[in-house]
Amino acid sequence: MTRSGAHKLMLGFLFTCITMMFYCFSAPSFRTNTPRFPGPAPCANKSLKWQMKKDSFSTTKEEHCVPKVNLMFLKTHKSASSTILNILLRYGEKNGLKFALPSGRNDFSYPSTFTRMQVKDYRPGECFNIICNHMRFNAPEVEALLPDDAFFFTILRDPALVFESSFHYYKRVVPLTWRIHGENKLRDFLNKPQIHFDSEGFNSFYLKNLNFFDLGFDNTLEPKDPIVDSAIHDIGERFQLVLIAEHFEESLILLKDALCWQMDDLLFFNMNTRRPTSVSQLTPELRAKAREWNGVDWKLYRYFNATLWAKVDAYGRKRMEKEVKELRQRNSEMAAICISGGMAVEAQDIRDQSMRPWQPVGESSILGYNMRSNIAQQYRELCRKMLTPEIQYLTDLGVNLWITRLWGWIKTIFSL
Ligand SMILES: *[C@@H]1O[C@H](CO)[C@@H](O)[C@H](O)[C@H]1NC(C)=O
Ligand SMILES: *[C@@H]1O[C@H](CO)[C@@H](O)[C@H](O)[C@H]1NC(C)=O
Repeated sequence: MTRSGAHKLMLGFLFTCITMMFYCFSAPSFRTNTPRFPGPAPCANKSLKWQMKKDSFSTTKEEHCVPKVNLMFLKTHKSASSTILNILLRYGEKNGLKFALPSGRNDFSYPSTFTRMQVKDYRPGECFNIICNHMRFNAPEVEALLPDDAFFFTILRDPALVFESSFHYYKRVVPLTWRIHGENKLRDFLNKPQIHFDSEGFNSFYLKNLNFFDLGFDNTLEPKDPIVDSAIHDIGERFQLVLIAEHFEESLILLKDALCWQMDDLLFFNMNTRRPTSVSQLTPELRAKAREWNGVDWKLYRYFNATLWAKVDAYGRKRMEKEVKELRQRNSEMAAICISGGMAVEAQDIRDQSMRPWQPVGESSILGYNMRSNIAQQYRELCRKMLTPEIQYLTDLGVNLWITRLWGWIKTIFSL
């Protein structure tokens, strides 16, 4: 073996050890049941003392409704959820709402099941307005943190695309994919998933029914299993709205309607997107295989796509079209105001370090933005916030992301 080969092997070995240690320390309760929390009854029936500042909501056409401020957003993986997160962080900041934030990292010890002890500086009985970072959902523990009237919502995406994205993004932390040697690992996997998949494999949930897993359920069930139907039913009962990434603007308009928000509250730029060349083009055949392999997510997706469109019908198709058009218009105006060149660029072309998005292990395929330098005063702050990636935004909100940063440092050292 050559010296450089041995060197690589050594680094690989070290990296694996550190990865394992990292996960063991940061996710101690994975596989155990939800620990009982020894503390007084939480904030369920309490109404939070937070009072809406009348002037913080500019004059509204819809005076008859009161904006909802108690929100639970289940941030699912690889489903356009970073864009929603940015919207929520801005909304909460602007209105002085209290976030339940994670501690040390940008998720609640995912993939451990959520417990309220994972919330930064949590004290028993404490209530919050918004909880919106990645977690493995656990209704009772989330409910314990929010007032009774909290609005629960989440987002789903076509499972073929979630799978493609997750396979690509996490392949270096899912050992099951390391054994596939072909040119097109994704295709090889989908051609014989039973051979390549093992539900006991480290991080294997990234490869099967990831959205269902995020929602707190067993991702290895068969779609025909009655447990799946009852889970879907429970999700429909718990979440007042399930957004669909493929109908993103329509989803946001429904959200605005449900929360009594303003169009201004919905402005967004797409966050955390990949450069087009790093997205595998799924042939219709592979797409079908990916949906079949992620059969539970596919069932979940179709169910909530149908409920979304039923809501659109109730809202009014014409009215929806008009609102979507307005939102797109406003967003492209904002893009012209805020973004240098008007579109996303490669990470190495982002001049300002604080605007560089987090990258997957082993590459930098996630695009970001350059902010224009000559923005009119009244837009400067809004532009900056709209363009700030998740990690930096959470840091600005006071989360000390030492675990995430340590991980970034390890990645750089080993130039993964
Ligand atoms: C909360 O409200 C429910 C129904 O309104 C009631 O049954 C329950 O006893 C209340 N719990 C507390 C702790 O007050
Ligand atoms: C989602 O619902 C819309 C409206 O009913 C339909 O046109 C579309 O085909 C559905 N998508 C999927 C993937 O089922």
